[in-house]
Amino acid sequence: MENAIEYRGLFRAALDAADRAYAPYSKFRVGAALLLPDGSIVTGVNVENRSYGLTNCAERSAIYAAVSSGVREFTALAIATPDAEYPVSPCGACRQVISEFMAGSIPVIFGSSETDLVHTTVSKLFPFDALHELSDR
Ligand code: THU
Repeated sequence: MENAIEYRGLFRAALDAADRAYAPYSKFRVGAALLLPDGSIVTGVNVENRSYGLTNCAERSAIYAAVSSGVREFTALAIATPDAEYPVSPCGACRQVISEFMAGSIPVIFGSSETDLVHTTVSKLFPFDALHELSDR
């Protein structure tokens, strides 16, 4: 895929972030890294809770951290799942949240290691996206 090299650094940032995951229950660490238009990166990790359903995935942690700091525009998203043996794609809830802030053409890179990356897009992960007209932003 185009820009595959460029996104390797973004994936590495997601992989580094995964070390900061709070995942004492699943022991499954996830890191996410958002690329901003100015080239900077915002990361997020999964944050679990002993009331399991309160867990926040890495993708949503990253997006909420960015939005909380005033950033709403992203040019790519990378997700690292170093405890899996195959590339693990974002969960359904995260796909909905990703679609809130990222256009269908935005590249998404995910994988468990740098040597086994899947390159896709928001629209491939979340087809038939709808209802953006409900927002006036
Ligand atoms: N998880 C993520 O953070 N992102 C994903 O895309 C898949 C799942 C987290 C949630 C939970 O803490 C652990 O991984 C196992 O499901």
